[in-house]
Amino acid sequence: MEMQQLKNPDSAPYRELQQFIEANRQVAGPLIQVLHRAQKIFGYLPEEVQKFVARELNLPLSKVYGVVTFYNFFRTEPMGDHIINVCLGTACHVKGASEIIKSLEKSLAIKMGGTTADRFFTLSSARCFGACGLAPCMMIDNEVYGRLNPTKANQIVQEIKSNIPTA
Ligand code: FES
Repeated sequence: MEMQQLKNPDSAPYRELQQFIEANRQVAGPLIQVLHRAQKIFGYLPEEVQKFVARELNLPLSKVYGVVTFYNFFRTEPMGDHIINVCLGTACHVKGASEIIKSLEKSLAIKMGGTTADRFFTLSSARCFGACGLAPCMMIDNEVYGRLNPTKANQIVQEIKSNIPTA
């Protein structure tokens, strides 16, 4: 999403959001639904979008902000082009998922949930991909990588980075 669009409440994404708000104004407690739609349209919920939603729904910004930060499926930062989901399900946890996360956090210079400065990767976590026999696992985009250790996880991430041209 271009910054210009984000700053212009007359742009197409805001108009789409406004239509959704109009259609859902009578629904009880529309805030969460509206935020879901806003995140779908914009990819994340920066302050500009939160302010727009607050204004349109006649709510204080603090209420919108409170909901956005309470639920971990709402994001206030843009996502990277590629999502690394490290499995934190029981089998993966027992087999050292947290070591893999620590190592990726270090090599990518981000914290869990964060996005690299070049917006290439977002580091995220998930619960069980149904590949417990391959624990510990991570999924990058739609591909599962198993029997990991910190070194192997980093190698895979570096290979992906060097094989996919940056958009
Ligand atoms: S616990 Fe990680 S794939 Fe099942």
